[in-house]
Amino acid sequence: MSHLVAPSILSCDFAYVARDVEMCNASGADYIHVDVMDGMYVPNISFGLPVVAAIKRHAKIPLDVHLMVEKPERYLRQFRDAGADHIIIHVEACTHIHAALAEIKDMGALAGVAINPGTPIGALNAILHYTDIVCLMSVNPGFGGQNFIDRSIEKIRNLKKMITTNKLKTRIEVDGGVKLDNAAKILAAGADVLVCGSGIFSHSDPLQAVKQLKSMKPNNKSV
Ligand code: DX5
Ligand code: ZN
Repeated sequence: MSHLVAPSILSCDFAYVARDVEMCNASGADYIHVDVMDGMYVPNISFGLPVVAAIKRHAKIPLDVHLMVEKPERYLRQFRDAGADHIIIHVEACTHIHAALAEIKDMGALAGVAINPGTPIGALNAILHYTDIVCLMSVNPGFGGQNFIDRSIEKIRNLKKMITTNKLKTRIEVDGGVKLDNAAKILAAGADVLVCGSGIFSHSDPLQAVKQLKSMKPNNKSV
């Protein structure tokens, strides 16, 4: 399967969110990545349920909802009802993560787990079989526009091996600091989904930026 691209709507112009969602629809992007931040799990507050529902009203592609929220199990039903097609919860934020993943699947959504740069992939050992998506954070979550942490490349490679060895179909989504100039290397390490916020919405032509990310070929030698 060729790779997927998910623009992160956190970097859009929220005064024109419908316009920016429609750009995503028209661009050939595969999902819209939607970052929900609660000001507790991460220092920043982004937006909540009504904004997810508003994005959903304009989106023609699935919503990939990344919950940077303490005890996300409290809100799974509400986010599903607001239109989340994928629900991604942090392994560091959820005590009974196995039960939460099962609940997400029971609601008919894809179940994802996110891990922070400081969390080893060993934290996924007992739950990888229950995940459709692993969102590997390549920045400390909370803000768009941060620099990609280079050590993430090795983590992506090791996670890819873990998935292949276990004959799983889990997709590796790489989130944070993904840009046109490092995407080839991230793909070569084993990423299946490129999440990209500022790299798309701060580009002079966001639609072209998505198209370029979509047609990017894996290349180890790129910067
Ligand atoms: C960071 C968020 C990311 C963010 C990515 O906490 O989870 O999804 O929007 O933005 P860029 O691509 O600008 O690093
Ligand atoms: Zn995210």
